Amino acid sequence: MVTAGIRIEGLRKRFGSGDTAVDALKDVNMVITPGEVVGLVGPSGSGKSTLLKCLGAVVEPSAGRMTIGDELIYDNRWVIKDLRALRRDKIGFIFQAPYLIPFLDVTDNVALLPMLAGLSNAMARKQALELLQALDVAHRARAMPSQLSGGEQQRVSIARALVNRPPVILADEPTAPLDGARALAVIRILNQMARQYEAAIIVVTHDEKIIPTFKRIYHIRDGKTHEEVGEGRDFE
Ligand SMILES: Nc1ncnc2c1ncn2[C@@H]1O[C@H](COP(=O)(O)OP(=O)(O)O)[C@@H](O)[C@H]1O
Ligand SMILES: [Mg+2]
Repeated sequence: MVTAGIRIEGLRKRFGSGDTAVDALKDVNMVITPGEVVGLVGPSGSGKSTLLKCLGAVVEPSAGRMTIGDELIYDNRWVIKDLRALRRDKIGFIFQAPYLIPFLDVTDNVALLPMLAGLSNAMARKQALELLQALDVAHRARAMPSQLSGGEQQRVSIARALVNRPPVILADEPTAPLDGARALAVIRILNQMARQYEAAIIVVTHDEKIIPTFKRIYHIRDGKTHEEVGEGRDFE
């Protein structure tokens, strides 16, 4: 068996019970190798966010198996004890809304996680600045979140998700608030992170500008996944 960055087998999630139960995920199967960026595409309500939340250990699935790296994390129940450590050390989340900390400047919003992980303040800020530069927002390094445009806030939140170099990055509509060039810049940096740090990355999107960049796409419809070869168009 190939070492997977992410392996999901027969994943199911039911919300509620009885007459009002909703089967958000019915049969999800995905394999994402380290270094790969895949698209996850599907209509509204098809289970995309639920899937990312299950994989990110924010929502508990109902059945199936999930593996990150060589670690089985879920097998019809959580098989690892410390879900908080899993989220902190293994998963980088990028959301549609940026959720920055309002009383920290841009640099410290990004540097906070590596500082908490034990890096010196100077090293953490250096890593933060490198990513801010790559995301074309380093000129706002000393600004407060409230002073940024929506697009700038989003790029800062992407830097924050990447700074600890998590092996798994989960992005839920990350380019929604960005224009075409900036959306492609985000995809470029995600591909760079995937290659450089062997991260496995899932990007939920219906953004027509970025869908052609994926080499592989999982379609999700009615809680079930179907794999498809993407265009893998060169965008660099
Ligand atoms: N916490 C919840 N409680 C009950 N139903 C939920 C909850 N979260 C999502 N759902 C339902 O699960 C289905 C999939 O939702 P979601 O994963 O948000 O879809 P998507 O992100 O593809 O739009 C929808 O029918 C939604 O209403
Ligand atoms: Mg969603």
